[in-house]
Amino acid sequence: MCGIVAYVGGREAYPVILKGLKRLEYRGYDSSGVALLSDGLVVHKRKGRVSVLEEELTGRDLRSPIGIGHTRWATHGEPSDRNAHPHVSRVGRLAMVHNGIIENYVQLRQELAGKGYSFRSDTDTEVLLHFIEDIRDHNGCTLEEALRIALRRVVGAYVIVILDADNPDTLLAARKGSPLVIGIGRGEHFLASDASPIVEYTQQVVYVNDHELAIVRPDELILKNLGNERVTPWVQSLDMELAAIEKEGYEHFMLKEVFEQPRSIRDCLRGRLDMTEGRIHLRGVEEHIDRLKETQRIILLGCGTSWHAGLVAEYVFEQICRVPVEVEYASEFRYRDPVVRSGDVVIAISQSGETADTLVAIERAKEQGALILGVLNVVGSSIARLSHAGAYTHAGPEIGVASTKAFTAQLTVLIMMALRIAEARGTIGRDRHLRLLQELDAIPEKAQALLADTSAVRRVAARWARARDMLFLGRGPGFPVALEGALKLKEISYIHAEGYPAAEMKHGPIALVEEGLPVVFVATRDAFHEKLISNMQEIRARRGSVIAVVTEGDTLVPGLADEVLEVPACDPLLAPILAVIPLQLLAYHIGVEKGLDVDKPRNLAKSVTVE
Ligand code: G6P
Repeated sequence: MCGIVAYVGGREAYPVILKGLKRLEYRGYDSSGVALLSDGLVVHKRKGRVSVLEEELTGRDLRSPIGIGHTRWATHGEPSDRNAHPHVSRVGRLAMVHNGIIENYVQLRQELAGKGYSFRSDTDTEVLLHFIEDIRDHNGCTLEEALRIALRRVVGAYVIVILDADNPDTLLAARKGSPLVIGIGRGEHFLASDASPIVEYTQQVVYVNDHELAIVRPDELILKNLGNERVTPWVQSLDMELAAIEKEGYEHFMLKEVFEQPRSIRDCLRGRLDMTEGRIHLRGVEEHIDRLKETQRIILLGCGTSWHAGLVAEYVFEQICRVPVEVEYASEFRYRDPVVRSGDVVIAISQSGETADTLVAIERAKEQGALILGVLNVVGSSIARLSHAGAYTHAGPEIGVASTKAFTAQLTVLIMMALRIAEARGTIGRDRHLRLLQELDAIPEKAQALLADTSAVRRVAARWARARDMLFLGRGPGFPVALEGALKLKEISYIHAEGYPAAEMKHGPIALVEEGLPVVFVATRDAFHEKLISNMQEIRARRGSVIAVVTEGDTLVPGLADEVLEVPACDPLLAPILAVIPLQLLAYHIGVEKGLDVDKPRNLAKSVTVE
């Protein structure tokens, strides 16, 4: 949440920062701002998208070899010019951007108010900056020392970057709990919340760790811990291509990412699904296979779409590994004082690897002795570093705020994990195992075939774009797909949507059904097919409209449904990977029909680094 970009070196800082902020807008987009040093400290900030700031600054002389920028997702204080970052210190010589939350800011604010400080914004960030400045002025120490002292008192999560008009070639940064990457160029450094603003300038990066401070000059990068000891920066090579973070001709990132799925699923399987040997190779799983073989319980944790991936995986793990599985919202798990035993396995599912609730939940489980495996998309992310092992999804950068290709890649990884663990536990027959491998291998091609003609889903979108409510129903692994379909629609088109197990319909939601209410069924062919058909009849009997995702060649449902969306046939355990695609597209096209910004839906952010 919130995106940070900063630059120091031989280029003009402003264009680098502006471009970087646009790349980071997925992290928050309610206001943005920059601070530069040209003839003193200059700060510009505006409510609204980065483009609003850009427009305002067009034609201005903004020359400066150093600067910091921020795009915000409001936590403390409404989105407004004055709450936008960067914030400026009392004396006006320091500017700071911040990502995260300072939990004890009320106390700090009171202390500062007692000393005569007043505040121009409602933010915790401004409080922290005044606090740092106060320590410096009071102790007569350097800004770096003051920052160290301040951070020892701060409770919460942060990445901060400070620009000091009295130190015009130095940026000071610190991290705890939110991500910070530093790109190393020739005589220049780039700081950002992720690598996307950096990749076009350099491939050499350092991921700053928690409780580290960075002192960054054009030719120098010093990392220190809060005890003022130097830490050797671990320089890594970026595994990201520029094309991956550009739209490549698509109208929106979301559409591009939906269409990328045949490739991203293939990338996810590559080197892991070995059809010659008929085996799954996942290093992170292999390293702990003895423990996984013996485990009595698997707990899957995630938030949002990642939680839905966990719900699908529950069916797969239980069916083929015969192990009890619990799927939990990370936010509920962490505060419930859960019973975790040392033999338990916790699988943390997260696209970003930075979701605060998931991160803290696995910290708790780790303390209690559980084995933590990560199913993550962003390499080197905080959850990756905290996990004992895991498997990356290799879906590539996902920029659209609503998760699409990350979800299908998560499913693919989780299914591969389940297959390997089932094999080790001896709970799956050789034939079934091999058949599932073959089916998995065929999924990318089937996804490709499905995406070759999306006219039906466009038609459905055009017909129901003005709906006020929609129900999504499914059974078995189709139930979490229904939840995900409803979530996508809410996020992208702002239509009220509910996902339910189809059998639960008669326990409440059926009261909502009236003439014309669109009810989407995830009705791919499986053991529950006939029961689902009965549920469709019940909807029709009450004059609801039925939209059904069905397996190609289904002869029963088309006679009952107002519209069908076909997906290729596959094993029911894998069907969610395909069945979700038309629902992603449905949400997308309805959002577009309604003229909404599908890549940046209101109030949302992609990487939720606050609790
Ligand atoms: C946010 C995003 C969702 C995502 C969720 C979990 O709410 O908007 O798309 O599913 O966070 O994020 P994670 O990165 O942990 O998968």
